[in-house]
Amino acid sequence: METHFTLLLVTLLLTSIITPSLSAGTHRCHPNDYKTLMEIKQALNNPYLLASWVPKTDCCGWYCLQCDEKTNRVNELTIYRGEISGQIPSAIGDLPYLDSLEFRKLTNLTGSVPLSITKLKSLRFLRLSWTNLSGPVPEFLSQLPNLDFLELNYNQFTGQIPPSFSTFTKLGALRLDRNKLTGSIPESFGHFIGSVPDLYLSHNQLTGSIPKSFANMDFTRIDLSRNKLVGDASMLFKPNGSTEILDISRNMLEFDLSKVKFPEKSLISLDLNHNKIYGSIPNGISAVGLQMFNVSYNRLCGQIPTGGNMGRFDYSAYMHNKCLCGSPLKKCT
Ligand SMILES: *[C@@H]1O[C@H](CO)[C@@H](O)[C@H](O)[C@H]1NC(C)=O
Ligand SMILES: *[C@@H]1O[C@H](CO)[C@@H](O)[C@H](O)[C@H]1NC(C)=O
Ligand SMILES: *[C@@H]1O[C@H](CO)[C@@H](O)[C@H](O)[C@H]1NC(C)=O
Ligand SMILES: *[C@@H]1O[C@H](CO)[C@@H](O)[C@H](O)[C@H]1NC(C)=O
Repeated sequence: METHFTLLLVTLLLTSIITPSLSAGTHRCHPNDYKTLMEIKQALNNPYLLASWVPKTDCCGWYCLQCDEKTNRVNELTIYRGEISGQIPSAIGDLPYLDSLEFRKLTNLTGSVPLSITKLKSLRFLRLSWTNLSGPVPEFLSQLPNLDFLELNYNQFTGQIPPSFSTFTKLGALRLDRNKLTGSIPESFGHFIGSVPDLYLSHNQLTGSIPKSFANMDFTRIDLSRNKLVGDASMLFKPNGSTEILDISRNMLEFDLSKVKFPEKSLISLDLNHNKIYGSIPNGISAVGLQMFNVSYNRLCGQIPTGGNMGRFDYSAYMHNKCLCGSPLKKCT
């Protein structure tokens, strides 16, 4: 028993002595990935954030990236919060095994998204966010069929939302909020085939009405707030749907709330403030387990329903309407 143990110790010791001298020859890093990463580092002007990207060392050990356990190919690149100036290097398209790519919180990252990104056919997760990218929303991203998460928010993108973004079949979330997008919401967004993504289009300058085709879609989370949308939004309410969060606040939407039936089982947050919504608040609202509710600054009338969670919301949830009454506002007369 004891000799076994000693032997084991000796073996372990020897391995740890020999391994470093071997490692130069046993880099996990694929030479093509190494070359591409060196190009990326140079294109970004050798930023301090990439100081661990040292020549002739194993790239799979560098910061800001990860290699796949089996293939040893670079499958994740995350450039986050650093002093980086310049554009997204087009060499990014030469990391063919990438499934996750992130550039985030980089104030001085400017320009457009390189077309070469369409070469990354395994890409599932793409986040280019809190950067200063500009120009049109890159429509060519719809050539990445495996995307399940697409976030381009907090940028300076302009122009219209590409209708072809409805062709993703695995998308769990689409975030285009906080840009300078104009035009209307594509009709095609009422026809997502496959999964229905959480949709975030808030803080843009979108105009026109919400497509009628949205009646087909059961969005779990949808945020269209702070745009210039007009007309009806009642198609977003599906009594048997699974919508949890619905925010259409700060638009110019105009519809009769009395006719709406809420998704009772799922809805937890409903923000309708600052629109031109009329009619009254349906009594059915008290059966909904709402955590957040706001209908202020609309044109609503009639008695505020009581019961359920309704007691949670104070005056500010109802203020500035045409003639709402009852607690927490003045008594109805
Ligand atoms: C961005 O660029 C400006 C001007 O060149 C510089 O002063 C600033 O430090 C940079 N910020 C970051 C986070 O790199
Ligand atoms: C974009 O750049 C402007 C001016 O350089 C800066 O004030 C702003 O914070 C940047 N935006 C982001 C999201 O980093
Ligand atoms: C909602 O579901 C109930 C029971 O499952 C059904 O009776 C009702 O017709 C459905 N309502 C709508 C609008 O689909
Ligand atoms: C409702 O929205 C208004 C306008 O944004 C805001 O002032 C108020 O605090 C909100 N109240 C609640 C309860 O959310």
